This record gives sequence, structure tokens and C-alpha cells, in this order.
Amino acid sequence: MTMKSINKKAQQRDAEIISNKKVGAYHHMVFAVGDMATFAYPGNFVAISVGGPNSSMVLRRAFAIYRAHDRGNYGGTIELVVAPHGQGSKWLTSLPVHSTVDMVGPLGTHFGIPTEPVNALLVGGGYGSAPLFGLADLLKSQGSRVDMVIGASTAGKIYAPLEGKRTVNSMSVTTEDGSTGLRGRVTDLLPKIIDEHSVDIIYSCGPMAMLAAIQKIADQHHVLHQASIEESMACGIGVCMTCVIPLRDEDGILRMSRSCIDGPVVDGSSVIWDSRGSIPHGTLGEPRG
Ligand SMILES: Cc1cc2nc3c(=O)[nH]c(=O)nc-3n(C[C@H](O)[C@H](O)[C@H](O)COP(=O)(O)OP(=O)(O)OC[C@H]3O[C@@H](n4cnc5c(N)ncnc54)[C@H](O)[C@@H]3O)c2cc1C
Ligand code: FES
Repeated sequence: MTMKSINKKAQQRDAEIISNKKVGAYHHMVFAVGDMATFAYPGNFVAISVGGPNSSMVLRRAFAIYRAHDRGNYGGTIELVVAPHGQGSKWLTSLPVHSTVDMVGPLGTHFGIPTEPVNALLVGGGYGSAPLFGLADLLKSQGSRVDMVIGASTAGKIYAPLEGKRTVNSMSVTTEDGSTGLRGRVTDLLPKIIDEHSVDIIYSCGPMAMLAAIQKIADQHHVLHQASIEESMACGIGVCMTCVIPLRDEDGILRMSRSCIDGPVVDGSSVIWDSRGSIPHGTLGEPRG
């Protein structure tokens, strides 16, 4: 196995906020990032310092890139969809336009695009739908069929911009409280869509429990699954080991791998989904005794 390192194109820079709008439960934020945008692919993320220069919040926060444009009035831009959740994200979403933040990106692995057109199913949970819209555009541009299912606990947490809905062949929405779309979970819809459209590959992004449930369905239907995992990250650049998860490599060996470098996008079948928080038996370097 080759030891992966930080994305070679990653850079650290001040990024000016050029738009910050509340959309449902989230903030859609646009940052001027120069040529950082040129190297960003769907699935990559950025890591942002939060709290300002005198903050006690020393850990950067990771955010999946929603869209990247390499030219326009502001040069390159990167768009994020941020949920004001805890201290760091609340600070970020409260910033006025023209403030700057310290951003590192693009980071991590990105979704793989097949060379031939395929039937793709994109599944997003909560703000996890955001990085799937850029992916949908790419897949459509190379001739693939794209069906999309997005879900959340309630209507305000569904992120589905109009132009994104127009790109895809079909879009289904589920909410657990039934406030919009079908009542239930995204996984309720997958078997039918997989069969109806002969799905070749599932791309997913959302909470770990959702991704694990999708993997079970992918296994049952013999469909490939690329998942963007969201493990807690502290540095985002491969040095702190906060984000390790057990991944089975192509050589068959189980290793604790850094989800910020070997992920966030991974082959779903390589993840040991039911052993989160512990080192599964048989992992390379597993402590004995
Ligand atoms: C790959 C990836 C993509 C993400 N994409 C998005 C996105 O598109 N939109 C979005 O809203 N959120 C996203 N997140 C979640 C985001 O990074 C933050 O976790 C979230 O915003 C909550 O941060 P907070 O500062 O508001 O909450 P807090 O509760 O202040 O902080 C929690 C976060 O800080 C880190 N942390 C805090 N203390 C420690 C500690 N002692 N040790 C280790 N870690 C600690 C953890 O990473 C945890 O996620 C993503 C996370 C990852 C890993
Ligand atoms: S977040 Fe530090 S190694 Fe991955």
C-alpha cells in the first residue's frame, strides 16, 4: 500500500465571504478563493479556522465543497452549505459579507467518475446532499443517468436548490416527520430505484448510520457504493490521527486509516461499518493482550 499524503493541490489562504444567505436550516456561503477553486472536485472538503485570531477554538472545522467555480466576478469561488450547530459553525455563519476566514483546501479524496456513462444513484442526508449536486452535473455531462434521493429529519433540513433538481433525472425526498416528501428514510426508496433503473453505482454523503444502511442495500443488490464519510476531524491534513477508521485496503489488509487523507470519499465495501470507535480484530498493528 502506498501511504497517502495531503492533497498536493491544497493551499492555505484568506478567503473573503462574498455571500452568506440562510436557506432553511442552513447557510449557503460563497467564498472568494482564487485558484483553490480550480483544483476542487465533488467530494473534496475545506478546513476553516473558526472563532477569530484570539479564539480558544484551535481546531479547524471541515466542510464539504458544495460547488466550485474557477472564474467569475470574484475570480475562483467555493460554496459551502453550513448548519449552525455548535460554537464553530455558529461563529462562521454569523460572519458578515466581506469578512475573511483562514481556509485550507481542497482536501481529501473526491468521488470517482466512471469513464463510461452509468446509471448512478446519489443519496444525501441533511447537508450531505450539498456535494452531490456538483457530482450530478459531472455525471450528467458524461452521459450518465442520475437519480437522487435526499432525506432529513424535517423539511427545513432538506437542501435541494431548484437548479439542482433540474439537472437530475429524478429527485425523491424523504423526511422522518413527513413534513415534506415521503415520510420515512432514504433507504426505504433505494431497492425500488436500484431495480427500476438498473443502478450501477451509489454515491452517498450523510450521517454514518445512513451510510452503513446504504452499504447493506448495496451489498444485497451487488451495486458499487462510494461513500463520503463524516468522521470527527481535528486537523484535516493527516497529522493528528483523530479521524481514523478501519478500512480494508485493496491488498486485503485491515488498517486504521485517516478519513481526512484516505477519505472522506471511500469505497463503501472497504469500511468496517459496525466497529466504529474501536479497533476491529485483525487490524494491522492491533494492540495485543
Ligand atoms: C469531511 C467533513 C465534511 C463536513 N461537511 C460539512 C458541511 O458541508 N456542512 C456542515 O455544516 N458541517 C459539515 N461537517 C461538520 C463540521 O466539520 C463540524 O463538525 C460542524 O460544523 C460542527 O462544528 P461546530 O464547531 O459547530 O461544533 P462544536 O461542537 O464546537 O465542534 C464539534 C466539532 O469540532 C471538533 N472537535 C471539537 N473538539 C474536539 C476535540 N477535543 N477533539 C477532536 N475534535 C474536536 C470535531 O471535529 C467536531 O466535529 C463536515 C465534517 C467533516 C468531517
Ligand atoms: S483530522 Fe487529523 S489526521 Fe485526520
